[in-house]
Amino acid sequence: MSNATETRIITKRLRDRTEDSWTLAGFTASGGYDALRKALAMEPAAIGAEQVAAAGLRGRGGAGFPTGTKWSFLPEGNYPRYLVVNGDEGEPSTFKDRMLVERDPHQLLEGIAIASYAIGCNKAFIYLRGEFALGYERLEAARRDAMAAGFLGDNILGSGFDLDVVIHRGAGAYICGEETALLSSLEGDRGQPRIRPPFPAVAGLYAKPTVVNNVETLATLPHIVAMGGEEYAKLGVNRSTGTRIFSVSGHVNRPGNYEVELGMTFRDLIFSPELAGGIRDGRSVKFFIPGGASSQWLTGSDEHLDAPLDMDYVQQTFGVMLGSGAVMVYDDTTNPALVAWRLAKFFAHESCGKCTPCREGTGWIEKILYRISHGEGRPQDLDLLLDVGDNISPGLNAPFSQTTICPLGPSSVSAVVSLQNYFRDEVIAMCRATA
Ligand SMILES: Cc1cc2nc3c(=O)[nH]c(=O)nc-3n(C[C@H](O)[C@H](O)[C@H](O)COP(=O)(O)O)c2cc1C
Repeated sequence: MSNATETRIITKRLRDRTEDSWTLAGFTASGGYDALRKALAMEPAAIGAEQVAAAGLRGRGGAGFPTGTKWSFLPEGNYPRYLVVNGDEGEPSTFKDRMLVERDPHQLLEGIAIASYAIGCNKAFIYLRGEFALGYERLEAARRDAMAAGFLGDNILGSGFDLDVVIHRGAGAYICGEETALLSSLEGDRGQPRIRPPFPAVAGLYAKPTVVNNVETLATLPHIVAMGGEEYAKLGVNRSTGTRIFSVSGHVNRPGNYEVELGMTFRDLIFSPELAGGIRDGRSVKFFIPGGASSQWLTGSDEHLDAPLDMDYVQQTFGVMLGSGAVMVYDDTTNPALVAWRLAKFFAHESCGKCTPCREGTGWIEKILYRISHGEGRPQDLDLLLDVGDNISPGLNAPFSQTTICPLGPSSVSAVVSLQNYFRDEVIAMCRATA
């Protein structure tokens, strides 16, 4: 029996102070804004180049790109430059950023202020998922309180550093979480991805140098500054340092958000009584999706369950990603084709239509998976799916090969490849039974 537990760093306050963690009083009474004060006494460039780089912080939005490196891409001498906070959280079954925004909004604002100071930005934009009504209310109240108390606005804490923060609410499109579509949406255009290069660091919002970072990434910054980057890097494993919040859902006894040290195994996360608490009715894991709907799947085999929560290890060993930190668990009663169809339906609905392989292909994948999972499949359907998938993601290597501008289309191929890898016989038998 696993006795793995959480390591609460960015979720500590919101777990300990359930009565007032989102208020300025609750925040400052538990050390809030001390890290900002410390950061403002540092050389701005040293925060990214020394603290964040030494911490080994990698983006928590999905791609896992090193945060310090991303900041270093900003061209020198080109101002204004912007920080854009990705609070769209559209990846199905990911629900960690919502918790951070609703229950510790000042922690996010402190992270935004530190990042802005570090990169030389005086205007930051938070792109918040439109459905987050409570989150918006609390974040906006926190923004106003922080302004009034001198933690945001002009001459922050007497340092001479100014920061204006704008909160923008999205309108419910998954694609607007993709960073370049987000920038277009923020500018008032249709939310569709842009071709890179130029990358946002060079020409982002209003064609100005822009850093886009996820909510959790930024919420981690105050702790890196407070602890020191090297100390933070002692947590975690290999190049996956620190902690991450995993949103565990599906057939587990205790679905929820768990902040754990990277390097823990999936088995610990799923089965520990302190964490997701095992599978309902004592059943076994048939498969799980380790990193949000876009990821390929893993199974309930020992090899997969005992894999560490290590971004590079799971990518290199199994071709899956930790992505947005959403772990969806399915027990042995689950029809994998039905899960694949439901995911395909999402991607087909959310394709923005800009790139033909995605616009057409996601719809075809959805239709074929519908018939397979609803008793109308044909024995050749899995191969047909792979053929369609190959046109979106050549070599079926999603999300790293694509005929599209962004990885949304290739993400729709992940479930198809997973059916092929682990459930081919089951899917073909399902089709034969109905053909
Ligand atoms: C279709 C699609 C949707 C995305 N949705 C989100 C999202 O909701 N939130 C997020 O932080 N990143 C999302 N991303 C990743 C962003 O493009 C980007 O990598 C991230 O915001 C960078 O922040 P980070 O470096 O701090 O992780 C999405 C990517 C794609 C392709």
